[in-house]
Amino acid sequence: MTHDRIPLAGVIGSPIAHSRSPQLHGHWLRSMGLRGFYVPMDVAHGDLERVIRTLPRMGFVGANVTVPHKESVMRIADKITDRATLIGAANTLIFRSDGTIHADNTDGYGFIENLRDGAPDWDAPTGTALVLGAGGAARAVIASLADAGVPEIVLTNRTRVRAERLNEDFGQRVRVVDWVQAANALEEAALVVNTTSLGMTGQPDLRVPLDGLHKGQVVTDLVYNPLKTNLLQKAKQAGCTTVDGLGMLLHQAVPGFERWFGARPVVDAAAREAALA
Ligand code: ATR
Repeated sequence: MTHDRIPLAGVIGSPIAHSRSPQLHGHWLRSMGLRGFYVPMDVAHGDLERVIRTLPRMGFVGANVTVPHKESVMRIADKITDRATLIGAANTLIFRSDGTIHADNTDGYGFIENLRDGAPDWDAPTGTALVLGAGGAARAVIASLADAGVPEIVLTNRTRVRAERLNEDFGQRVRVVDWVQAANALEEAALVVNTTSLGMTGQPDLRVPLDGLHKGQVVTDLVYNPLKTNLLQKAKQAGCTTVDGLGMLLHQAVPGFERWFGARPVVDAAAREAALA
């Protein structure tokens, strides 16, 4: 008697209880009538490699990776996509039938798809993009903006040296400005992206002066808890097009799901609701 395998996937992080990915993937599996499971895995740093090497033997076809392991998994993977190499982190693992582990980073893809959904009029080849923050999320955003053909990317970060280091890694592709000059840059930008954790529930608000925001700009925040950060509220009042961060979480999950479970899921209102449940 033969048993066809039911594909298993999950998300690896620590802590992991807050992750929205299990609800989202579970919703897609159910709504598409697919067989499969997607589970949260709280994995300590010291166990990361052992867990990742064990999962394929247990029937796992892949996994998402989140904080704090996105950089560490790069050392474990056998093959890494160019975009993950450029960002220096991976969020999606594929366990291939030949036993190799492939790592990809779909954050930048998720960011751009969310922007295209929420601001269909946004025209990448014109105007400046201002990116606030220079952490891992900013790297993914900048890689995807450069890829989309944005002619000028301005980067500002509280710790300037971190922004400069990022610029070096990206071949001096961006213009770094001081955090205290963010207000000027904000006024001139066609697209404003907050990649810092400021505005998130439990964190202070983004304190950059926001009075320069005006109609015609697109403003997006990677923060999705709450959906309307102080930046997005102020931008909305100023007549900007606003895009919240939840869609990025949904879109970045699409390539992994499609690869593991064999069908492309849709990012729609039901998926948003499932991720927030
Ligand atoms: P992620 O990988 O999610 O981007 P990270 O690498 O910890 O997370 O980066 C967090 C970003 O938020 C950084 O740009 C950080 O600025 P610093 O490089 O100066 O630390 C920014 N950030 C966090 N708290 C901040 C605060 N209170 N004021 C300004 N920026 C802040």
